[in-house]
Amino acid sequence: VPDLRVHRRSAPQTVEHILRGLPDWFGIEEAIREYVADATTLPCYVALFGDRAVGVLLLRRHFPQSAEVHLLAVEKDSHRRGVGSALLAAAEADLKADGVQFLLVHTVGPSSDSEPYARTCEFYRARGFVPLQELKLIDWDGPTLILAKTILPRGEECT
Ligand SMILES: CC(C)(COP(=O)(O)OP(=O)(O)OC[C@H]1O[C@@H](n2cnc3c(N)ncnc32)[C@H](O)[C@@H]1OP(=O)(O)O)[C@@H](O)C(=O)NCCC(=O)NCCS
Repeated sequence: VPDLRVHRRSAPQTVEHILRGLPDWFGIEEAIREYVADATTLPCYVALFGDRAVGVLLLRRHFPQSAEVHLLAVEKDSHRRGVGSALLAAAEADLKADGVQFLLVHTVGPSSDSEPYARTCEFYRARGFVPLQELKLIDWDGPTLILAKTILPRGEECT
């Protein structure tokens, strides 16, 4: 197995390629186009096996103390090989160095009964995210679950 590496770099074409390969999670054309556009402006992390890009993460910063995983996607053939975890770890290291205390993520909520998104939620919980609240109609036509994780303990944050 080639080494897994993570780089911070702009990669809109990689975002498009990976999202088009995940129709169970990203099936809405307009949403894909928005993520590709977002990839030209937001901080972007790319995971590579050798020279092959297998995963992407986009970050948004809301306040000095908090950030959000705007997009996280790993190509289907590379699931459960540590790619999503490596992308999160790289982003968290940079945010921690920048004094960010909380990392948030929005995903499809449990009341949607989506089996693929139930697995996504398992991943976030395994990575230390805690479910905070399920809200309806904030990102799409169905329920959104907001999860959060402490990345910098109280007292170590920048003021
Ligand atoms: C969710 C996703 C990013 C996870 O990335 P990944 O590289 O497959 O995850 P990792 O290999 O780093 O998994 C780390 C741990 O999370 C948990 N986990 C990951 N995928 C899981 C699954 N399908 N079911 C249950 N637990 C899971 C496990 O505890 C896993 O550790 P283990 O493999 O040693 O048991 C990836 O599956 C993906 O891109 N899914 C489709 C798109 C998506 O859901 N994006 C997020 C939208 S909000």
